[in-house]
This record gives sequence, C-alpha cells and structure tokens, in this order.
Amino acid sequence: MLLAALLLFTLALSATSSKVTYDGRAIIIDGKHKLLVSGSIHYPRSTAEMWPDLIKKSKEGGLDAIETYVFWDSHEPARREYDFSGNLDLIRFLKTVQDEGLYAVLRIGPYVCAEWNYGGFPVWLHNMPGVQMRTANDVFMNEMKNFTTLIVNMVKQENLFASQGGPVILAQIENEYGNVMSSYGDEGKAYVEWCANMAQSLHIGVPWIMCQQSDAPEPMINTCNGWYCDQFTPNRPTIPKMWTENWTGWFKSWGGKDPHRTAEDLAFAVARFYQLGGTFQNYYMYHGGTNFGRTAGGPYITTSYDYDAPLDEYGNLNQPKWGHLKELHDVLHSMEDTVTRGNISSVDFGNSVSGTIYSTEKGSSCFFANTDSKNDTTINFQGIDYKVPAWSVSILPDCENVVYNTAKVSAQTSVMVKKTNVAEDEPAALSWSWRPETNDKSILFGRGDVTVNQILDQKDAANDLSDYLFYMTSVNLKEDDPVWGNNMTLRIAGSGQILHVFVNGEFLGSQWAKYGVFDYVFEQQIKLNKGKNIITLLSATVGFANYGSNFDLTQAGVRGPVELVGYHDDEIVIKDLSSHKWSYKVGLEGLYQELFSSDSSKWQQDNYPTNQMFTWYKSSFKAPLGTDPVVVDLIGLGKGLAWVNGNSIGRYWPSFIAEDGCSLDPCDYRGSYDNNKCVTNCGKPTQRWYHVPRSFLNNEGENTLVLFEEFGGDPASVNFQTIAIGSACVSAEENKKIELSCQGRPISAIKFASFGNPLGTCGSFSSGTCEASNDAISIVEKACVGQESCTIDVSEDTFGSTTCGDDVIKTLAVEAIC
Ligand code: GAL
Repeated sequence: MLLAALLLFTLALSATSSKVTYDGRAIIIDGKHKLLVSGSIHYPRSTAEMWPDLIKKSKEGGLDAIETYVFWDSHEPARREYDFSGNLDLIRFLKTVQDEGLYAVLRIGPYVCAEWNYGGFPVWLHNMPGVQMRTANDVFMNEMKNFTTLIVNMVKQENLFASQGGPVILAQIENEYGNVMSSYGDEGKAYVEWCANMAQSLHIGVPWIMCQQSDAPEPMINTCNGWYCDQFTPNRPTIPKMWTENWTGWFKSWGGKDPHRTAEDLAFAVARFYQLGGTFQNYYMYHGGTNFGRTAGGPYITTSYDYDAPLDEYGNLNQPKWGHLKELHDVLHSMEDTVTRGNISSVDFGNSVSGTIYSTEKGSSCFFANTDSKNDTTINFQGIDYKVPAWSVSILPDCENVVYNTAKVSAQTSVMVKKTNVAEDEPAALSWSWRPETNDKSILFGRGDVTVNQILDQKDAANDLSDYLFYMTSVNLKEDDPVWGNNMTLRIAGSGQILHVFVNGEFLGSQWAKYGVFDYVFEQQIKLNKGKNIITLLSATVGFANYGSNFDLTQAGVRGPVELVGYHDDEIVIKDLSSHKWSYKVGLEGLYQELFSSDSSKWQQDNYPTNQMFTWYKSSFKAPLGTDPVVVDLIGLGKGLAWVNGNSIGRYWPSFIAEDGCSLDPCDYRGSYDNNKCVTNCGKPTQRWYHVPRSFLNNEGENTLVLFEEFGGDPASVNFQTIAIGSACVSAEENKKIELSCQGRPISAIKFASFGNPLGTCGSFSSGTCEASNDAISIVEKACVGQESCTIDVSEDTFGSTTCGDDVIKTLAVEAIC
C-alpha cells in the first residue's frame, strides 16, 4: 500500500516536473532542445496589480521566460526582518509567470547592480563589524548564504523550481563579478569558488548561471551581458551560448539625456546571436518600470527606469519595438528544432555578408547577415538573388523565402499622448495647503542625536533610513585667529550628493554633482561672528552607488575636508574643521511626523509660498476616469519626494535640465549602438512626469498628493494626466500582412493611407509619385474604423494596380487616429 502510494506520488511528480539540462548547443527541457527568448521584469518596479498584464503582454510578444533579480535590501530591510508583502511578493510574481505558462529565470544575486540603491545590498550589511563585501569574508558570506538560502527555500516550498513542476528553469548567483574580480586578488578567486559551491549545495534541481564570469567554475554556466553578444563563447564546449542581458536601451540619470535603441538594431543583435549559435537570450529590460520610493541607485538614477524597453514605463506596448521583436520571435521559434540541433555550415559572401545554414533531416533554415554599417548588398544563394540591407539579418526558415529582415519594420508605430484629468472640475488648478519643514532647531543650534570628532560617511551615520543627514559643528573665532579677515570662505569637499549649507541659521548655498562626475568642491564666501558660529550641512543622497570594484565603499554624504579659508593678500590660511566635534541628525521632522500620510498635522490653507526651500505641499484630487495609466506632471517644482495616498512615487527633480548633445540628424540604426547614440530630450527637464500606479489611487472620493520640496518651486502647474495611444502608423512593403491596433480602444479615423511609394514618417506621410488605382483611405477605413484592431494585406489585390513599375518596391503607409 505504502509502496503504491509512493509510486503514485513519484509518478505525479514526474508528470508535472521538468528536467532542465543542457548540452553545448542548447538548454534542454524534458528532452527537447530549446530556443528561448526571455525578458526582464523587476517585480518591485511595478505593482502586483500590474504583473498579470505585463506578463500577458510579454507572452503575446513571443517571450518564453521572464527574468528577474531578487532585491535583498527591500526584502531584508533590517537584519533578519523580512518583507515579502505587496509589490515585494516574489512568490506571487513567480506564480503569475507560471499562470501565464511562461518559464522564469531567478537572478538571486544577491548583489544585483540594476541601478538599484546600493546594488541591492542592505546598508546594515555595510555597517556590520568586520564585513567586506563580495570577497572571501566570513561575515559577508554568512549573510549572503543566509539570504540566498532563504530565497531558495521559499521558492522550493512553493514547488516553483522546474524540477518540482514550477516555472523556474535557471537561477543566478552573484552578478558580473568577472568585470571587477581582478581588484579583489586571490580572495576574489576564492569567493567565486565559494559562490559556486554554496549555490550548488542548495540543490535546486535546475542549472545555475553566472554572468560575465569567464572562469565560472563547473557546473556554473557563464553567460554574456551587453548590447551584442554574438561573438561570445562560453568557457566550456559542453555549455550552451546564453545572453542574460540584451540591453534594450539604457537607464536615465538626472541631468542625462533620454536613451533610445532602435527596433532595427535590437532585432539585428538578437538575430545575429541566434545565427551564431545562441540558445537563450534575455531582454534587459523587457519592462523597466519605475524606481518607487528611494530604490533608485546610481547615485543620480531617475525615478523612471523606462529603459526604452518593449513595454514602456507604464506597461504600454512600446511600438514598433514590441511588434518588430514579436515577429522575430515567431520566426525564430518556427526554426527552433533546426537551429538548436541542426548541422551548421557557413558561407562568406564577401562585402561583410555571411550566411549560416542549419540543417536537419527535416529541412534547413538560413540566416544572411550584412554587418556593414553603410552598404546594402545583393548576394546570390542557390541561384536566387537576395538584397541584404546594411546592418541587417535576413531570416529564411526554409532557406528560400525571406520571412523576416531585421531592418524592415512593418509593426505599427504608436504615438502616445497625455490627456488631462477630466474627473477634476477644474483640471488645471489643484488647490494647495502647505507647511514649512521644521528643522530650524538643527539649523540654528546645531543640535543632533550623535556627536563624534569626525566627518562620517552617510551610510555609517544614517544607515539609509533617510536621504537626509544633517552634519553640524560649531567654530569659535577670535579676531586674532589666523584665519580671521574680511575675505573668508567655507570650503567643503562633497562626494556627489546634494549639499545645502547654512551658517548661523542662514542659508549659504547648495551644490550637487551630475551622474558620473561625483566629486565636487563647494566654496563660498562667508561672514562669521566673533565667538561662536554654527555650521550646518544638510546632505541629501540621490541613491547609493551600485556598480564597480568596491562600489560599496564609495563614500556618500560630505566627504570632507570641511575648511575655513582665509585669504590675506597673498597668504592663504586654512582652518580644517574636519576633526571638530560634529553632531549628526538623520531625516527631516516632516518625515518623522509622516506628513505624507497622516491628516492630523496642521497644514496652512492660504497663500502657499513659492520658491521656498524645505516646504511641504498637499493637495487632493480625483482619480482620472478609466483604466489608462496615470502620471503626475510636476513641472514647476525643484527637487524632492512625492507621495500619493501615502505611497512614495519616488524622488522628483524636474528642475534638473538634461544636458546638451542631442543630434539634429535622424537616428540611424546602422552601426554599433551605445547609450550616446539616438538620444533625445536635451535641454528639457530630465523627468517631468511621474508614474502613479492605478493601485495607489482610490477611484471613489478623494486622493492626496503630498510633496516635500527641498529646493523651492511652484506647484501651480502640477496636474494629473492619463497616457493613451493617440495614433498608430504603419509603413510596410508589399506582400506583408500588417496589423493596426489602438490597444483596446476603437480606431476612430484614417488620416492617411497610400499604396505606392509614399514619403515621410508617422505624422508627416505624403503620397509619392505613384499610387494604387483604388482609394486607399476608404479601403483602410472600411477594414479598420470602429474596430480595436484590423489586418490588411499589403498587395495590389487589396489596393488595385499601381503605375509604380516593377523596380519600385511598393509600400503601404497608413496613419490611423485612435
Ligand atoms: C549590467 C548589470 C545590470 C544593469 C545593467 C545596466 O552591468 O548587470 O544589473 O546594471 O548593467 O542597466
């Protein structure tokens, strides 16, 4: 009886669980060679309510798997105190992936980089005695093992590893350690070995990966990260070629431009990877999302982590990227067996064009790549001429018909528009109450909670409980002090965070850095009293460093020295205050009082001040009608923190203008991409709109917006808007079937349609020199108006014959209004 039950149990287990193995060519799931396409979605960068839709759209986009990091600092905010609630519910996220029938890749790290605060390390870890991060250090390894084991056990307990019938097919330990390993010497080598052994000892039943780790010990699979990974080879012939991060764009920093990577180049990189033997690639990010709260790292990473990903920050399809990649995924999947199992041969066609032919007993599939960044080329293969545009890959699933070319985009371009909040009676004008931040005590009297004779690193002094830390000291000056004179300055070496300086209660000045150039020196003239003077420095962090060798030791806050400098004719006298008695106070009064969520505090109703530092503003508003994503436009404000109904929507800083350097030329997808190519938004606020997830809002009744304005600004123009698709354009060659969609709302009109050789781009199409005989607009209107989506055959059958002649490739251009 017992034996029978055991047998049944084992049978049940093997019926649902998947065996994940691999060979030198592919990941093999339940004996089947796989060509896998995956995409990163970081669960805390959206809300649990958004997950089903994001994952559904990922599946529709042709993904097989979702990759996510695990965020240690969020889950273990204080040592051995855990949080997996709400948007941190990792298990619920994995189950949502599973419900959609997708696989999952679990990148535990637990160092994750990710432009996340401190790379995902909790700051308490840095403050543990004797700790040294990411190296063979017992204190660190013990904590890392503790957290990794906790995550593995949680996932196991819910049967979420593929070996247990769950979606998780791969797990990752550490992150890109190979990039920085040399600076840790032999200890670094020992640490990698330890990571591998520790991971193995957790018996997860699916393979472990290590990215950017060319010496990954067996059986760890080393994988590649980058904009291109076609030239990557894994470190052992027995493991498949895998790409854990294909950067779909790039992150944005305060003061930085908006990065864009074209659909054509991204598709090119993917096609090249599979052409040259790849088996798994993951888009980093497929949905970037939002750095809510204080989760943005950097320092100086913006609240938006849109990444120009196939799903935009709010979860809308970023078209044509999403659609162009979906087509690619469909073609690649149709060739899965041939590409992952077939014999490989290659042909050099000259002129930078190379072909790869995969063949099995059942048939052959071909890739033709032109890696020249300027010249289109025509090649001849088995008696047929093929034109391969510059910087493109043509895919021929039967080695005869080109089904896809990475440079030919027939997916629609969607133009997103912002609409004002019609739920408000007077949508343009919110009414505001306000109150000042009451930190005067610290500023005037220099009284803090802790006093030491040293300038402290902000991580040590504040343990990341707040962005804000007051550094206060006093200096007694007599007239005979060598530094005393008419020309004295206060000079402070800052380490990149924002610095506000007060002398004897009066504001002296502020300074901050820009992304990548963090060190600066603040120096301004001051007037001091004879006798006691109080110097108060308020440091505001904009996220802690997340990348680089020993990034965890990057100083934060006031670095020092802090000096009084006396200029006497040609003599300079320096009085170093760094080892004076410094008193520290963490946070702001308003934060302690939780002004962002409580009603009890006194807010003043009339005449709110503008351009006044350290001011709290509060307003109520009605939730915009409908289900479209909501943003708040914070134009007019300086820098600070914002909350909706007590939920932090992140740091805001619309007064930080994006640097120059945008090209006036149209973006050319050809040639190697990097994050300085195809940038936009120069000279405008780095980030003006801030995502307010629908789940933060009450649909009935009032909602509250609270702002803590640090620099001074004017909230008069603040307003809520929704984001929706305004119009959709396609431009596709003959013999394609195109789809137009208003993403859930009906197509209301066709503004332009022409079949022939139309000119221009979306929003500015015009007819060319030849056109089909039938009226293209009325044909498209008939097929599309009133529908949420429609498909059209781009052919003379649909539009009638043209006078274009045989040497013109006929195209259809349509602009539809949603
Ligand atoms: C990689 C890192 C990711 C992310 C990415 C840039 O080096 O592994 O976590 O930081 O760069 O967005």
